[in-house]
Amino acid sequence: MEFHPIIYLYSILQWILDKLLSPTPPPPHARLHRPRIAIIGAGLTGVSSASHCVGHGFDVTIFEAGDEKSLGGIWSKVNNTSGLQIHSIMYRFHPSVKWTSGYPDRQQIVSQITQLWKRYGLQERTKFNTKVTSVRQDKQGRWIINDPSNGRFDGVMAAVGSCGDPKMPHIQGQEDFKGEIYHSSKLDGKTAQGKKVLIIGGGASAVEALEFVVHTGAKSTSVLARSDKWIIPRNAFVDTLLAFNIFGQETVFSRIPESLLRVFFYRDLDDLAPPAGTGGLFTETPMVNSDIFHQIREGKAEWLRGDIQGFTENGIRFNHRAKGVPKGGPGREELVEGDMVIMATGYQRPSLAFLPDEVFQEPYQPPNWYLQVFPPGHMSICANNCTYVNAIGTVGNYHIGIYTRLLLMFLVDPLARPQEYWMKRWIGMTKTVKSFAPTGAFDFVTYSEMTYWFVFCVVINPFRWKWAIFVFFGIGSALPLNVVKGEDRLRNGLGMKKRYHE
Ligand SMILES: Cc1cc2nc3c(=O)[nH]c(=O)nc-3n(C[C@H](O)[C@H](O)[C@H](O)COP(=O)(O)OP(=O)(O)OC[C@H]3O[C@@H](n4cnc5c(N)ncnc54)[C@H](O)[C@@H]3O)c2cc1C
Ligand SMILES: NC(=O)c1ccc[n+]([C@@H]2O[C@H](COP(=O)([O-])OP(=O)(O)OC[C@H]3O[C@@H](n4cnc5c(N)ncnc54)[C@H](OP(=O)(O)O)[C@@H]3O)[C@@H](O)[C@H]2O)c1
Repeated sequence: MEFHPIIYLYSILQWILDKLLSPTPPPPHARLHRPRIAIIGAGLTGVSSASHCVGHGFDVTIFEAGDEKSLGGIWSKVNNTSGLQIHSIMYRFHPSVKWTSGYPDRQQIVSQITQLWKRYGLQERTKFNTKVTSVRQDKQGRWIINDPSNGRFDGVMAAVGSCGDPKMPHIQGQEDFKGEIYHSSKLDGKTAQGKKVLIIGGGASAVEALEFVVHTGAKSTSVLARSDKWIIPRNAFVDTLLAFNIFGQETVFSRIPESLLRVFFYRDLDDLAPPAGTGGLFTETPMVNSDIFHQIREGKAEWLRGDIQGFTENGIRFNHRAKGVPKGGPGREELVEGDMVIMATGYQRPSLAFLPDEVFQEPYQPPNWYLQVFPPGHMSICANNCTYVNAIGTVGNYHIGIYTRLLLMFLVDPLARPQEYWMKRWIGMTKTVKSFAPTGAFDFVTYSEMTYWFVFCVVINPFRWKWAIFVFFGIGSALPLNVVKGEDRLRNGLGMKKRYHE
């Protein structure tokens, strides 16, 4: 492989992070102790959370709906040409992950998840082909996953992700279309060479499909997008800066990055940027790409705003709208011809309906939970990375470990647990702080905001202070555990029983 100084430095940094922050894997067949955690989903969140738990000596079982080929979650199901749009420095889902490039492809991502799974001996702790349909408590408050034969658990980590089965809406006249129709995640083995390609949708998958078809030599490529979304450059520095928005929402200061993007990034293609005064940069997950503007300027692709009226034999009837005209508004209907249609229409949201009914009670339904992931009254449930709606940041980063360690802290230390009353007050406080946000308080977050939540959560309760280094860095669990044992002895002496569960 060619020597690249930046990648070399990146490898050294990753090696140091691994040595400093990765918990030691347990020996093979080790008997791990309680609390015992049920982890639902074997994508990167489930595998990373499980490796943190076993690395700190706690027992886990991973329940995965798919077979062994599903290890890696959504990344096991998408195209070989799929890869990260955001820089991998923001996709370090475990400290031992070692990326060999800034923008790894699907195979590298699945390989890192698989290596992690093997390194922490999770093969013997994973039940494949086991879809979780019910999670309920027994009389002692322990969690039963589907049925008691699966064992009883002190904590539950839902890691079902946000991308389930491909979404393929039926569009009027689709049966009459003479060309091919594929979902954007099913493009392996297909070629767009010499074809007129129409891409339905204007999200990250549309951007990825555009790159795919242009690079496989399509005759023409048209993206048919019904809503405007921000696109930000594929630049680690810029993306990190944007994720630093401490307010975690659109404010008057957001005009600064928005104007800079219009002037220096969109330039002559400003028509594609959301109109001023409508959806701001900090309202919806932006797409991360620098290549598509290049393709549009070169005339290899076009990006059209409007509504799909229906299919014809040889294309799509499309109501082409001007900038600022809302969905369904007036425009000019035209036939956009094509012989291959890619439905970049997204994915079904995986269901959390297996959780007990009480976690969905108004106004505390997901994502309106404590720290966005712990339902009030159930600190032993953590829905890691799957209540996320929109954000600047990524879902595959360091916070997975922090959430896992917060769950571990709550489970092992009765005095560090949040009470339902205070969980609800925190949710109310965050809603008040973000009451001027154009989105719901938890519908859009930034990394800075999440960091503030974590710090606040640890600082607010003096019994959590001893856990701070462990929660943030995953090291030094021995000291707080010994303090907890001492506290337990004292509490037992006072007639207060130690309990892992609520
Ligand atoms: C093409 C594509 C590219 C992407 N690129 C990026 C990117 O660049 N940056 C970014 O941050 N995000 C990206 N994402 C989003 C992606 O979802 C996350 O990055 C990440 O893979 C989420 O991992 P996860 O483990 O949380 O969920 P998943 O990978 O979706 O894994 C969830 C697992 O849970 C299992 N499961 C679900 N329900 C149940 C149940 N009831 N019982 C048992 N098992 C269940 C599923 O079978 C699945 O294996 C991309 C998504 C797609 C589709
Ligand atoms: N490499 C990457 O970074 C990458 C690549 C792919 C996916 N992802 C991630 O995966 C997730 C899903 O992304 P996605 O792009 O697949 O889905 P998405 O963000 O849900 O976007 C789907 C798009 O399809 C449009 N659409 C849906 N139904 C339609 C219909 N009937 N007619 C016309 N348009 C329709 C939507 O329009 P409306 O917005 O108007 O509903 C939207 O523009 C996101 O979290 C994304 O970040 C990331």
